[in-house]
Amino acid sequence: MPDLDLHRDPGSTGLADMLRAAGVVPVVEIDDAAMALPLAAALLDGGIACVEITFRTGAAAEAIAAIRRGVPGMLVGAGTVLSADQVDVAREAGAAFLVSPGSGPAVVRRAAEAGVPIIPGACTPTEIQAARDAGCRLVKFFPAEAAGGVAYLRALSGPFRDVGFVPTGGIDASNLAAYLAVPGVVACGGSWLVRREWIAAGDLASITDAAHAAAAIVAAARAG
Ligand code: 3PG
Repeated sequence: MPDLDLHRDPGSTGLADMLRAAGVVPVVEIDDAAMALPLAAALLDGGIACVEITFRTGAAAEAIAAIRRGVPGMLVGAGTVLSADQVDVAREAGAAFLVSPGSGPAVVRRAAEAGVPIIPGACTPTEIQAARDAGCRLVKFFPAEAAGGVAYLRALSGPFRDVGFVPTGGIDASNLAAYLAVPGVVACGGSWLVRREWIAAGDLASITDAAHAAAAIVAAARAG
């Protein structure tokens, strides 16, 4: 496997630094690619310069490409990447990073071959260790709340000192600060920042408000 430095030491890599700066990764399910630019702009207005467009809809690749072209300041990744083919589609669309709910070896391997950093899902010590063995230094701790929440993640972070965590699943403004306080957490993912119904209704103000509230929580967590 190629030695991809973006997969490595979460303390110093470009991707980890960018995710840490954002503090949150809005997880988006988009039906109409035409909404990609407005929703990215709404997040930026709220102070969040990162977004994950999931491959749960047919509009994902077009939405990623649109954000990549139209919002240069935005870190855009592809989420719910479940197959090696989707790795290729995401790379061609310009995704800066990939996220997967699990650590499927075919997906992780193709991402490494394509030179796109991947954040594979892992929620047990064995899964985290396997992802680490595959060269990944960032993992999506998923499903965070259902798997055991903050206390469980804190226990996991003890032995995995060189792994950066992106907890996702059941996180919102009410528990974001608690997750950000866990050692090793670089950012928290979640759909609460860009609800599907807000996109459908063109409710950009709610996206900006949620981003703004999250950015304030991240800033407070980083300061404290
Ligand atoms: C994901 O795909 O990352 C999760 O479904 C997001 O979980 P959430 O909807 O609980 O934030």
